[in-house]
Amino acid sequence: MLGHKGSRTYLAETQTGAVVAVATVRKSGRCAEVGILVEDRWQGRRIGTALLDRLVTLARSEDTAAVVAIVQEANTAMIRAMRRASAEADQIGTDLAYLTLQLARSRVLESRSDDAGRRH
Ligand SMILES: CC(C)(COP(=O)(O)OP(=O)(O)OC[C@H]1O[C@@H](n2cnc3c(N)ncnc32)[C@H](O)[C@@H]1OP(=O)(O)O)[C@@H](O)C(=O)NCCC(=O)NCCS
Repeated sequence: MLGHKGSRTYLAETQTGAVVAVATVRKSGRCAEVGILVEDRWQGRRIGTALLDRLVTLARSEDTAAVVAIVQEANTAMIRAMRRASAEADQIGTDLAYLTLQLARSRVLESRSDDAGRRH
């Protein structure tokens, strides 16, 4: 994804400046496709989850409607990280998962439940 027009790259560094993870966001209209790569030795330490949180916060601030990722169905770590952020997973073909985090819909639901709360 690096180098595509409209894509941005974010790095995660240790305190000594060593890069241990890279995240890319490629915007297409109000949709943002994300990709995250954590260096092998640093995987499983919540760095991917933390990066995804930042990307989702950024996407919300930019009025993005959906954050998506396409991964191998066996990629449990990415699927769990996206699901923790409330994404839905759909299977594509036999071995791919299409992960969608709908930000616009969450906001509508949140404001509807706010309204319901105010009526009671
Ligand atoms: C996928 C990836 C970005 C996740 O980042 P990470 O820092 O390793 O993952 P985290 O520590 O944040 O864990 C995320 C979730 O996956 C789980 N997990 C982590 N490693 C796992 C593993 N090897 N097997 C199964 N589950 C795993 C965690 O328990 C956590 O789930 P939970 O929140 O339900 O407890 C990272 O493993 C990676 O770079 N993989 C190679 C590249 C890749 O596949 N990128 C995704 C395609 S965009």
